Amino acid sequence: MALWGGRFSQAADTRFKQFNDSLRFDYRLAEQDIVGSVGWSRALVQVGILSVDEQQRLEAALQALLAEVQANPQQILSSDAEDIHSWVEGQLIARVGDLGKKLHTGRSRNDQVATDLKLWCKAQGQLLLQSIHHLQQALLAAAKANESVVLPGYTHLQRAQPVTFAHWALAYVEMLERDFSRLQDALARLNLCPLGCGALAGTAYAIDREALALDLGFAGATRNSLDSVSDRDHVIELMNCASLSMVHLSRFAEDLIFFNTGEAGFVELSDKVTSGSSLMPQKKNPDALELIRGKAGRVVGAQTGMLMTLKALPLAYNKDMQEDKEGLFDALDTWYDCLDMAALVLEDIRVNQARTLAAAQGGYANATELADYLVAKGIPFREAHHIVGETVVFAIKVGKPLEALSLVELQQFSPVVADDVYPVLSLESTLGKRVAKGGVAPQQISAALGWMSAHLAKR
Ligand code: ARG
Repeated sequence: MALWGGRFSQAADTRFKQFNDSLRFDYRLAEQDIVGSVGWSRALVQVGILSVDEQQRLEAALQALLAEVQANPQQILSSDAEDIHSWVEGQLIARVGDLGKKLHTGRSRNDQVATDLKLWCKAQGQLLLQSIHHLQQALLAAAKANESVVLPGYTHLQRAQPVTFAHWALAYVEMLERDFSRLQDALARLNLCPLGCGALAGTAYAIDREALALDLGFAGATRNSLDSVSDRDHVIELMNCASLSMVHLSRFAEDLIFFNTGEAGFVELSDKVTSGSSLMPQKKNPDALELIRGKAGRVVGAQTGMLMTLKALPLAYNKDMQEDKEGLFDALDTWYDCLDMAALVLEDIRVNQARTLAAAQGGYANATELADYLVAKGIPFREAHHIVGETVVFAIKVGKPLEALSLVELQQFSPVVADDVYPVLSLESTLGKRVAKGGVAPQQISAALGWMSAHLAKR
């Protein structure tokens, strides 16, 4: 039975009912709806609507329902209830009779759904924090396992300067660190409870909303009832967190897809996260990574959709807001799955040290070193840059790396070049010189690994 039949003499058109009902997706809020209802029943004792005995009977029935729902959430879907709030209330009335009809006193589905969704966001947020942390650990493990592996660093997808595999992996740990704190920040901001705001103007019962909020695990109660029932900032904020993190995961995926190409051959992905071609027997495709990259678009799309849904909504609640759930659920589920899949990809990744080293040594990635060498000999940097540019053109023409040019060849472009140039052009020197914080010198990398390990261990 619908919660609102009294005013109506005609039944809803079945097509409208199907269009309007949200149970098929908001059944995922069952746990939160029950927990919120338990909290509300306790608040109703305080204002004399329920006796202690009545509240205890309601709570016992709600707890039993919670256990059933936890064991089998899918059972809800066989009901034709309008939404999860109607379903829970219907179940309660079926179990405790007329007493169940008292529960909705002073409450509206508007403050109820806002509360349920925030409770769900809080729980899901914790799971996502754990997943981000888990992926950071996986990256850290891969970094440690390949600490001394030299990797070409790119700008414009042109080999630029050598870095190390650990440095590359730590770059993603940093991005995820920001994702982690952004999510924590969003979770802290949404941690105020809207229950007791009624439909829009506040409940007509003198509920102690602060006590109710604390009872439900919130940090406090929201301050304005109009805002409380129509605020979906937290939905958008969590989708922002998801979108930006998915952009990071997509870049991670793209890097590895490139590293895994036959042309680069820097890494080999495990059979566990790749798939074959139905036609070409030689193929081993990086599907896990491509899907991560692809799904980033879907998450950003869901976020954009929600912004558009909310942009012109007048205060307070409007049914448009029911559109918040599918996009949010999908975005957070997708984010969760992609974090997990990225960690799985890293578990068995094999880095081909010979290939990364050869690539790092080629491509004139030590040209900046030669420029710095000239600077040390008193040549202004801009001039040094030009000299090295000409030297590189020559080196390409004769098909040699810079360090293979003879002194005579090098001196054509600058007479200050001497024998001491060769150690400067070595890979060890290129890496070793970058000792400033955040650079690729081995002691910096090991300090960064140490700092991040300790940091992650603290949570
Ligand atoms: N299913 C609705 C939603 O998700 C619940 C709130 C309904 N409120 C109302 N006044 N019709 O937004």
